[in-house]
Amino acid sequence: MTTRYRVEYALKGLLAVPFVLHSQPTVQYKEHSRSLAHIAEISHKRYVEIMRDVETLINDHIVHQNDGSIGRSKLKLLVPAVGTFFTPLLLEEAFKYQDQQRFISHRRFVPPSFNDIRLTLNTAQLMGLVNASKVELLTFDGDVTLYDDGASLTEDNPVIPRIVHLLHQNKKVGIVTAAGYTEAEKYAERLHGLLDAIHKSSELVDAQKNSLIVMGGESNFLFKFDASSPVLLTYVERSEWLLDEMKSWSEEDITELLDVAESALRDCVSNLNLPAAILRKDRAVGIYPLDGKKMHREQLEETVLVAQQIVEMSEVGRRLPFCAFNGGNDVFVDIGDKSWGVLACQRYFGGIARSKTLHIGDQFLSAGANDFKARLACTTAWISSPAETVQLLDELAVLEEDK
Ligand code: IMP
Ligand code: MG
Repeated sequence: MTTRYRVEYALKGLLAVPFVLHSQPTVQYKEHSRSLAHIAEISHKRYVEIMRDVETLINDHIVHQNDGSIGRSKLKLLVPAVGTFFTPLLLEEAFKYQDQQRFISHRRFVPPSFNDIRLTLNTAQLMGLVNASKVELLTFDGDVTLYDDGASLTEDNPVIPRIVHLLHQNKKVGIVTAAGYTEAEKYAERLHGLLDAIHKSSELVDAQKNSLIVMGGESNFLFKFDASSPVLLTYVERSEWLLDEMKSWSEEDITELLDVAESALRDCVSNLNLPAAILRKDRAVGIYPLDGKKMHREQLEETVLVAQQIVEMSEVGRRLPFCAFNGGNDVFVDIGDKSWGVLACQRYFGGIARSKTLHIGDQFLSAGANDFKARLACTTAWISSPAETVQLLDELAVLEEDK
């Protein structure tokens, strides 16, 4: 389970206590009465205290993380699998903000939910980033983060002016997607709305336009914005961006790993009687539904877990990083993962720090999700729709203006 997910569940549990103690769904009083406001005030105070305590716990953990005494972190004792924090999380302030947006403390019947916590953590992360330094690189997942699943980034997408604004602020932008194609045309087709807007923009200078890159197949194919290309994207040779560790991934190992994964997927198709076909690519192998068919969540998740376990247990699976994930209506096993993808983007732009990078994605559950690996390489925000991505970028812009 990822750190963020664990912390979210733990926070939800912590906030349930004041909710149970202070909410009074059965009392006889009119809505908007003074007593209701009073209860909201008490709940708010208690929730804020809890957020402050957890924030302190994380700050203490960061101190131990930085001076090499991680064994003495209380958070590490409570959550042994806790990962590295690249910035503090301003949970107290973030909760106050989200409470104003979502009226969490005013609710009498519905306790603080998973979504309340997810959004509070996103805000706390943005505040932590802006407070500590400047965000220099934003990486975006594609499907569900920038556009609906399987759709394209068309010119009417409200995320486009926000991304142009990020470039205008001299930030670097990477789209780090699992979608794996070797040709620039395929990405250009899906991202044309954004590419055209950058191309036509009169406010962006060339260096800013050239600050957009696309990393496909998690960490396998890099493309850069290129005004001179007919499709506005050009393939970047691997020699220009591969990290040293990635140079040791041999073609034989890649083929062997994909063979193991393919046979695991074939077994699942037959054992679970899946209405699916196999798709073998250069750096990935997957199953996709036959025409007009859909697979259900349990089938997809079972397939991911089987493929993951079989590859993990193979010898080549111990030599080569890979990512098995549930794409909503398909399952893919990719060579590498988004942590490598984000690290390569950081390096491509001259070595941007993990604490100055934010990855925005929708897949952060550990079993069968691909964005959560990015958490190893940078700070992250977990959104659930393209509209939430837009909202998050607006929140970031306001925080930066206020600073
Ligand atoms: P993402 O959300 O942008 O990471 O895109 C994930 C989706 O890309 C998957 O669910 C697949 O439908 C699609 N896809 C296309 N080619 C590949 C590939 O080579 N590997 C993994 N996913 C792929
Ligand atoms: Mg996605």
